[in-house]
Amino acid sequence: MGVNARTPLIAGNWKMNLDHLQAVAFVQKLHWTLKDAKFEEGSVEVAVFPPFTDIRSVQTLIDADKIPFALGAQDISTHDSGAYTGEVSGAFLSKLQCGYVIIGHSERREYHNETDEVVAAKTRAALKHGIVPVICVGETAEDLEKHGASAVPVAQLAAVLDGLDKKSDIVVAYEPVWAIGSGQAATPQQAQDVCAALRGVIAEKLGADAAARTRVLYGGSVKAANIASFMREPDVDGALVGGASLVVDEFAAIARYQKHVGV
Ligand code: PGA
Repeated sequence: MGVNARTPLIAGNWKMNLDHLQAVAFVQKLHWTLKDAKFEEGSVEVAVFPPFTDIRSVQTLIDADKIPFALGAQDISTHDSGAYTGEVSGAFLSKLQCGYVIIGHSERREYHNETDEVVAAKTRAALKHGIVPVICVGETAEDLEKHGASAVPVAQLAAVLDGLDKKSDIVVAYEPVWAIGSGQAATPQQAQDVCAALRGVIAEKLGADAAARTRVLYGGSVKAANIASFMREPDVDGALVGGASLVVDEFAAIARYQKHVGV
C-alpha cells in the first residue's frame, strides 16, 4: 500500500465544549459550509468528537441528514458494564455508531492519571467493540528538552501496541503537549520526524502492512493557516484539532486543506 492510499483524517476534538443543542447547530452548519464549498466527500474523512452528552443528538442528525462525518467519543471505559459509576462502555458507544474514540489524550494522562497501562486497556476495549482507537502520544516541554522529540511518544506508543493483534485498526495522534492550545504548533519537519518514528514503532510491533495502512495524525495548535504545511509531509495523514474545531469556518477550511496545499 503506497503512502497515498491512506485517506486523510481531519478530526475535531471538542473537549468539554458545546452542549447537545449547540452541537446539533454546529454540525448542521459545518455540513452546509462544506457543501457550499463543494467539499469532495471521500477525499478527506471528517470526524467530530463531541462530549458524551451530545453523542446521541449528533448521531441522530448525521443519520437523518446523511451527513458524511464520522462520529467519535473522547474516552471509553476499560470495562464492558457493571458497577463503574460515571464510566461509559464501548458497547454503548458502538450502539451509537461511534466509529472512533480518543484514547490517552494528554489532558486525561495529566488530570486523570492515565498511565500507558490504562491507555493500553482502553485501546483493547475500543477494539473489542469495533471502535477505532485514536491513540494519543506526545512529549512535554521538559521531555523535549531532556530527551528530544521522539523518545517519549515512541515509548508511549510501544507500550500500547505490545500484544495487539497485527490486524488491529488504529489511528495514532502525535500531540506534543507544549503545542496543545498554546498557539505554538510544532514545525512541519518536527511533526514529520516524530510521525515517521511512530510509524516505525507500528512496523516493529504490528508489521509493515499495519505501518503502511495506519494513519498517523499531528495535533497541537493546528489551524487553517498551517494545516497545508503539515499535510505536505509524507508521514502526516491528518490532524487532531482542538480549539480550531469549534469554529465552523476554520474547521471547514482545515478539512478543505487540499484546496490550499500550494499555499
Ligand atoms: P489544539 O488542541 O488544537 O487546541 O491545540 C489539540 C488537542 O488537544 O487535541
